[in-house]
Amino acid sequence: MKIKLAEQRKQKPDFSKLGFGKYFTDHLLVWEYDADKGGWQEQRIEPYDDFKLDPACCSLHYGQGIFEGLKAYKTEDGKVTMFRPRDNFERMNRSAERLCMAQFDVEEAVNGLVQLIKIEEEWIPAAEGTSLYIRPFMFGTEPFLGVHPSRRFLFTVILSPVGSYYSGGLEPTRLIVEEHYTRASQGGTGEAKCMGNYAASLLAGEEAKKKGYDQVLWLDAEYKKYVTEVGSMNMMFVIDGKVVTPMLDGTILRGITRDSAIKVLKSAGYEVEERKVEIEELVSAARDGLLEEAFGTGTAAVISPVGAITYKGSDIIINGGKMGKITSWLYDRITGIQRGRYEDEFGWVKEV
Ligand code: COI
Repeated sequence: MKIKLAEQRKQKPDFSKLGFGKYFTDHLLVWEYDADKGGWQEQRIEPYDDFKLDPACCSLHYGQGIFEGLKAYKTEDGKVTMFRPRDNFERMNRSAERLCMAQFDVEEAVNGLVQLIKIEEEWIPAAEGTSLYIRPFMFGTEPFLGVHPSRRFLFTVILSPVGSYYSGGLEPTRLIVEEHYTRASQGGTGEAKCMGNYAASLLAGEEAKKKGYDQVLWLDAEYKKYVTEVGSMNMMFVIDGKVVTPMLDGTILRGITRDSAIKVLKSAGYEVEERKVEIEELVSAARDGLLEEAFGTGTAAVISPVGAITYKGSDIIINGGKMGKITSWLYDRITGIQRGRYEDEFGWVKEV
């Protein structure tokens, strides 16, 4: 590991007004891969600065790029921790495989990240609802114009002190079911955390925002019948006391918060079903008074209540538009494990 520290440190933002992803720390981690130089090179920590890229850099043309999102916390007893970092890097390797990109050693990635976090410790906000968001990403850097996999990649980690992802914090969001555009189809890249998935979702998201919604709830591409996810989060519904969530079918992100939520709920005795969820099932459950809660799960979104879902012009109002009991219990459990308020019974917390 080569470390070059910044000569000048940035002025830190007001940690009580962070928003999401607006400020970046003083350093980043860079790890280059070059197939012609034997693969992965020595990791480097350097001052945060612009990249210099060849205009023919292949990922600028063909989008060979993937990313991850995880968080570091300052716990009440002053420790610095990360939540499930290995799982994120393992998922990143799966994304890399799908996008024909170089895979890396997960332990080495975690070690590099630990060193970066140690250097940037002062940037970790401590207040409840805040954290240091960690954004690993990797893209092809080889300059060429033919369509083929890159032989060079840049793996980078940047850090951003954050507050809540939604400007309304834990205020329930309003979703609209997207009936025209689709996010992912069978055999596509829906499960990979690749840049193009997010680019492809922007137009639907902008159109939804113009109509006053926070996010789009995506349906499956083939039948436009099954609920899948919300791009920035996986979805869960409480129907007649049971927690129901769309099963992982290759088109849905394998959410780490989703997985954590399922395990925490099950260990507390809740029934959780991972299966196909028809949008019409939600409509009829709401009509029968059985759709009790809806919430999203994600690293950025944490556990995020959903207050209303619009489908075919009609609104499904959930729990009177208020955060439900299971949602707020789960928010407390997950953030409590992450911040060290509850025992880490699943071994998810890594001390830095
Ligand atoms: C995350 O939750 O970390 C994500 O990567 C989602 C992104 C849209 C902020």
